[in-house]
Amino acid sequence: MFVCMCYGITDKQIKNAVETHGVGNMRELKQIMALGSQCGKCIELAQEVIDNTIIDESLFKDVG
Ligand code: FES
Repeated sequence: MFVCMCYGITDKQIKNAVETHGVGNMRELKQIMALGSQCGKCIELAQEVIDNTIIDESLFKDVG
């Protein structure tokens, strides 16, 4: 699923950034990829993907 149409960035790429680079918010994500700097429509959704990935990760850690 594309989150950022302007740069063709998918939710998978954002998830990956959270998991491998420890990205926790939009400011950190923007340092890794050019997202949200064109029309800005994707910022809210991208933040949601970050949040959901962090929640998933902490659930996973609880189990392990
Ligand atoms: S959709 Fe991401 S900047 Fe336009």
